[in-house]
Amino acid sequence: MVRADLNVPLDGDKITDDGRVRASVPTIKALADAGARVIVTAHLGRPKGAPDPKFSLAPAAARLGELLGAEVALANDLVGESAKAVVEALTDGGVVMLENVRFDARETSKDDAERAALADELAAFADAFVSDGFGVVHRKQASVYDVAQKLPAYVGGLVDAELGVLRKLTDDLERPYVVVLGGAKVSDKLGVIANLLSKVDKLLIGGGMAYTFLKAQGHEVGTSLLQEDQLDQVRGFLAEAEKRGVELVLVDVLVTAEFGNVEHDVVGTDAIPADKMGLDIGPKSRELFASKLADAKTVFWNGPMGVFEIETYAGGTRAVAEALVKSDAFTVVGGGDSAAAVRALGLPEDGFSHISTGGGASLEFLEGKELPGISVFAKNEGDR
Ligand code: 3PG
Repeated sequence: MVRADLNVPLDGDKITDDGRVRASVPTIKALADAGARVIVTAHLGRPKGAPDPKFSLAPAAARLGELLGAEVALANDLVGESAKAVVEALTDGGVVMLENVRFDARETSKDDAERAALADELAAFADAFVSDGFGVVHRKQASVYDVAQKLPAYVGGLVDAELGVLRKLTDDLERPYVVVLGGAKVSDKLGVIANLLSKVDKLLIGGGMAYTFLKAQGHEVGTSLLQEDQLDQVRGFLAEAEKRGVELVLVDVLVTAEFGNVEHDVVGTDAIPADKMGLDIGPKSRELFASKLADAKTVFWNGPMGVFEIETYAGGTRAVAEALVKSDAFTVVGGGDSAAAVRALGLPEDGFSHISTGGGASLEFLEGKELPGISVFAKNEGDR
């Protein structure tokens, strides 16, 4: 049984970025090529603990089959009759997938016994477990954490490789170390900012979360995204950043009256009109960000700089991505959105030292938090 992270972005039933499916192929293929009967488990989105066709793994199973060059049968349940039938029909070297693990409420239950009961049912299908869904190792969930205690368990190649790269950002880095953070939610990033302030040389903040920083610096942000409840904490970070000489360098933004509107103005961060919202970092900020990235030796980037899905507001994200491609630094892109942006903007994946499949997982790793899907291996004495 291989736990993969196949949580891919979908447009209807079309996968818009198959990076996570591709990243899961080597481990699955190696096992199948060695003659194993492979049962893949995974989640998609956040269904409410019951089957919901919107969150079916069917597109992921189809794509995995294409990449493997062999059909991947998908059970239409997780541990029910269909799953049993699909597993029983497996032959040596074959690969099947069970339906979204989050269709069963026990997967994400906070009750240890409930999760363990589901893990028992899953474990009954298999002789060994391989944890290869790096993007989900920060979740204490039945298919990630509990199953690993029910079967001989192994860390897969993808998880191993991701940890190896991310450890370079914590143990053994070359300076200057520049971290670029964006995306919509400050609250998701507070922990990592607190942890990184003492480690980074420069912190570049863009994206939707930047407006809470601008507001905390005393600027008006119009109708831009704002997390009022985070302002006090962000003020604390700004004071700490100043003490440590960590620079924040956002100077201008693209503003518009309505979300999605392509008509826009470029304004200084001290002149955002009351009736407008910022949707991307401005041209001066892009240049400044690129110049700060030019002499970096290590870069970690998480979160787009603007609404990159709309071409008008893709410039900031593109500027950061291009600066990373040009740079000789050790560059790591972490996070589903930034990785998807790199591919959506047509940048060469080999222009980066590493594009992580983990979003929350890579951030929590950098925060220094314990990742249940990893620490469970230390608990299981004797396993690898
Ligand atoms: C992700 O997209 O970061 C992972 O697949 C984990 O998904 P989750 O945040 O819904 O647990």
